[in-house]
Amino acid sequence: MRKTLTFLMIINFCVSTSYAATEQEMIKESKYAIKDFAGQLKSRLMEGISKGGPVTAIQICNQVAEDIAKDVSERHGWKISRTSLKPRNIKNAPDAWEASVLQSFEKRKFAGEDIAKIDYVEIVQKNGQSVFRYMKAIPTQGLCLSCHGDLISPDVSDKLRQLYPDDKATGFQVGDIRGAFSIVREIK
Ligand code: HEC
Repeated sequence: MRKTLTFLMIINFCVSTSYAATEQEMIKESKYAIKDFAGQLKSRLMEGISKGGPVTAIQICNQVAEDIAKDVSERHGWKISRTSLKPRNIKNAPDAWEASVLQSFEKRKFAGEDIAKIDYVEIVQKNGQSVFRYMKAIPTQGLCLSCHGDLISPDVSDKLRQLYPDDKATGFQVGDIRGAFSIVREIK
């Protein structure tokens, strides 16, 4: 009896530690995929701004953000996207889980946590399937204000209104949480 118990305890320990290891591994891979996605977005943004100013860059963001997300998702084998409590593109609106995580990020920021380090992971159950979900906060930087800040030039405003009639992503300040990267991955 005691032997069986010990055996079960060992099995249990192995399963839970390997599960934790997988989770840590997935967090690491998520961070890597996010770096890849953010890096590509930023370089396209900078390229657009230097070529034709913010109005040209808006068009680039509008056309390429989704393609880059698809490309990175395919290469890393999971779904990666950006979301926000105040989205510009309605397609980036959060689902219920993402909205509650974004709200918790606001509370954590208010409590003094460094936004650059705010993230959250959870294994959720969907239709009997375990799903790994990970989110990482995106800080607002000076570079973002020409399109997400308080003082937006009229030509930029016009272009934004034309492309995004329901735009909620203005009025941000440096140090605000602009949104988050979100990763969804089914666990086989
Ligand atoms: C040249 C204008 C411009 C600049 C500068 C800019 N953005 Fe955006 N941003 C956009 C546009 C346009 C979209 C909508 C993209 C789409 O259609 O998916 C967007 C969307 C986003 C989204 C996705 C959620 C949403 O609101 O739809 C996030 C997050 C975001 N931007 C963060 C940033 C951050 C952080 C910076 C600064 C590092 C930044 N942006 C700089 C134009 C800009």
